[in-house]
Amino acid sequence: MTSAPPSWRIQALAKRPDLIPALAEALWECWGAVFPEKTVAVRTAGLHARTNPDRLPTTVVATATDGALLGTASILFDDMETRPDLNPWLATVFVMPGQRGHGLGAALCAAAEAEAWRLGVPRLHLYTFDKRGYYAALGWRDLETVDYAGQPTAIMVKDRPV
Ligand SMILES: CC(C)(COP(=O)(O)OP(=O)(O)OC[C@H]1O[C@@H](n2cnc3c(N)ncnc32)[C@H](O)[C@@H]1OP(=O)(O)O)[C@@H](O)C(=O)NCCC(=O)NCCS
Repeated sequence: MTSAPPSWRIQALAKRPDLIPALAEALWECWGAVFPEKTVAVRTAGLHARTNPDRLPTTVVATATDGALLGTASILFDDMETRPDLNPWLATVFVMPGQRGHGLGAALCAAAEAEAWRLGVPRLHLYTFDKRGYYAALGWRDLETVDYAGQPTAIMVKDRPV
């Protein structure tokens, strides 16, 4: 017997603001050790500020057929406060631990990028500590390597498709 392929729905967080508490907790669990200043309360406020369906900053969420949270990605400003010259950013790309490896991360990136292109963004940036290869496979290219949060960090860019 073969198992059914995973299915999900990706939509703007503006359509599912009820997911914000679970999302803030999940992001804290994932990155709390690296960015302790981004508490659940700080992340909750940040997510509320991204419930914009037609302007940046914005967040997309993936849900299962039963409506449960599966993952997220955002387009936001000043993700790397040491580089205010680079904006906007693809950020907080996250898939719930039990849901990884089925293409959802790529689908979330594509959905967030599509929203940025739709809103007229010419170039997106991201930074990553350890997923450079992952993003390169998704069409991102290296811009610089910097020290950030005490770690060597790749800054990558992607241009709006012509
Ligand atoms: C990164 C993340 C979003 C990917 O989500 P996902 O749904 O598993 O992603 P996809 O299914 O689209 O891609 C998984 C593939 O990427 C590969 N991959 C994962 N990390 C990688 C890396 N650092 N370099 C290269 N490939 C990588 C996996 O091996 C897998 O390959 P396969 O499809 O050949 O098996 C998820 O692992 C996650 O939420 N991680 C914690 C948060 C995080 O690190 N976010 C990125 C911050 S920059």
